[in-house]
Amino acid sequence: MSLIAFDPARRRWSLTTPRTSYVIGLTDDDVPACLHWGPRLTPEQAAALPGAVPFRASSFDESGVAEELLTEAGARYGAASLQIRFANGDTGVEWQHTGHEIEDGHLTILMRDRAHPVEVALHYRVRAGCDVVERWTEIRSEEPVTLLRCDSAAWNLPPLPGYRLSHASGGWAAENSVRRVELPVGETVLTSRRGITSHQANPWVMVDAGEAGEEHGEVWSAALAWSGSWRVTLGRTPSGRTGWTGGFGHEGVSWQGTAWSTPVFAGLYSDGGFGGASRTWHRYVNEHVRPAAGELRPLLYNSWEAVGFHVGEESQKRMAALAARVGAEVFVMDDAWFGGRTSDRAGLGDWWPNPERFPHGLTPLIEEVHRLGMKFGLWVEPEMVNPDSDLYREHPDWVVHMPGRPRTELRHQLLLDFSRPEVADWAHKWLHRLVSEHAIDFLKWDCNRTFTQAGPGDLLVGHVRAVYSILDRLRADHPHLRVEACSGGGGRTDLGIMARTDQVWTSDNTDAADRLSIQHGFTQIYPAGAMAAWVTDSPNPITGRRVPLAFRFHVAMAGVLGLGGDLPNWSERELDEAAELVAVYKDIRPVVQHGELHRLREAVQYTLGDRVVVLAFRRRGAFGAPGVPLRLSGLDPDARYRDEDTGAVHHGVLLTSRGLLPPFPSDDYASALIRLRKEQP
Ligand code: DGJ
Repeated sequence: MSLIAFDPARRRWSLTTPRTSYVIGLTDDDVPACLHWGPRLTPEQAAALPGAVPFRASSFDESGVAEELLTEAGARYGAASLQIRFANGDTGVEWQHTGHEIEDGHLTILMRDRAHPVEVALHYRVRAGCDVVERWTEIRSEEPVTLLRCDSAAWNLPPLPGYRLSHASGGWAAENSVRRVELPVGETVLTSRRGITSHQANPWVMVDAGEAGEEHGEVWSAALAWSGSWRVTLGRTPSGRTGWTGGFGHEGVSWQGTAWSTPVFAGLYSDGGFGGASRTWHRYVNEHVRPAAGELRPLLYNSWEAVGFHVGEESQKRMAALAARVGAEVFVMDDAWFGGRTSDRAGLGDWWPNPERFPHGLTPLIEEVHRLGMKFGLWVEPEMVNPDSDLYREHPDWVVHMPGRPRTELRHQLLLDFSRPEVADWAHKWLHRLVSEHAIDFLKWDCNRTFTQAGPGDLLVGHVRAVYSILDRLRADHPHLRVEACSGGGGRTDLGIMARTDQVWTSDNTDAADRLSIQHGFTQIYPAGAMAAWVTDSPNPITGRRVPLAFRFHVAMAGVLGLGGDLPNWSERELDEAAELVAVYKDIRPVVQHGELHRLREAVQYTLGDRVVVLAFRRRGAFGAPGVPLRLSGLDPDARYRDEDTGAVHHGVLLTSRGLLPPFPSDDYASALIRLRKEQP
């Protein structure tokens, strides 16, 4: 069956994925409407779907049409996806259909306004083997217009007995807390007005009828590929119609111009519960979003948590030697290697090695790191400037500000306006030179403040596009370069940044106990192979919590393991134990980074080919409390699985029905790693 089919008699398009269908139709007066988003349909079944009901104008009821992009024309009362103010002051778009294009898995439905020379293209893309539907919108106008809102897509749900919303919220060092609430009747807005994706909310939603679990039930979800301000508005009307519209920008911003293209807002219907939805998102992100997801992410060491701003050639070399001893594969020098940067008060913008700390430049350290058998990585924060810097003294006008108002300093820094081509060009040039002139294998691109005083909207979008373009050009010019996205921890975690980076720094909070929930939230949409996680010191520098080394390792092993502890202060015994656990991680790494993830109760399971890895955790033990076996998921019931460490053999059906008692060694903060291999019949 082809991915996209057009039924000219009924004026409807069917997108078909391995397990789902998405069907769009036009009403008699050309309003594009969602006819079906759910299980896969045959052409005959798609043809049998009721057509889009005629648009019903009413003072008291809704239009009755599940619109693909809600405008504010006529008798419409929902949150508008598309708000245009034309030169003569008219508002609203009255749809007129002008045609469509189908190319491979890409459908473009062409629309225009009936009165003004504005064309709107609704884009849909599906790919063989993947259930995710990508959608975005393009606008072309013959005359300048003001765009007050231009969402990528509106998604409509079928009638359900109830509606429950799942989303992630949080804060700095507390990202990705999953919340599940009944979707209230009315409007629910999830948004970032901070110019970055944000720690407070992440641009994805999942909605179910209130009955889905990790491994069962229907879930409708969507995720936005954008790393700046964004807004998703969910609506549930008193009469039961439910859906959401989302895209870049927040309310109150506007753009002047004649042409726009929005980011992708991808959607997924899954009948495999939240876990099934997550696994499909992971596959989509790995196969169609991340640039080099087929690689295994190496194990890096970063001394930020250990030494903060106190870096120097000799001390970093000593750290590098210990990192190599424990098994690190990349050594990353974090903040404070450049300009006058000895604290967060100065130096951002002056991107040359600090002459006192690196009297012979970076090369001696890089050579030593390479001699130790590791790759070299470097921290940068290209979008920022400290007022106390040569760059700011030379270009005080380059920062985002409002004339006549005090410039908002956050962490003593100001934001460079990358929507200005000369500023973005400056950044691209020094980054390109830095990577060209040094043997740098890896960049950690940080962004430690939010946008303030950004004005109406062009800057908010232009800046993010410029960041994307610099990253894209750097990658094209330096194909070996790998990049970590960071924004004060996980403030820039989204599909947009993942399309041009290799991993995301998940959170500045490395406390293993807190990380369990942060990582749980991360993996709702994003894959473990992009989730950077370090083992650091105990007590944890942020939370003060004491957690055993094995627990810290096991939690970080659930993603891309890295090390960030103050290694010179680790005992010989700790260094040896760390080296052993690093070796174990390297063994399970393909399964964790490339396998299928099942979230179990207080455990995560990864499956790849014949291998199964389970990382199980118990935060608090209680004397005499019976151990509760862990039921594994997605195994072959008829197969036998051998425990690679103990040699014990288990039947698949028993592992999933009775479960396995994790061999927890102690009471509080106990953890266990189980490696199973499916035996050949
Ligand atoms: C915030 C990051 O999340 C940290 O890992 C570290 O790179 C600091 N910035 C450096 O200033």
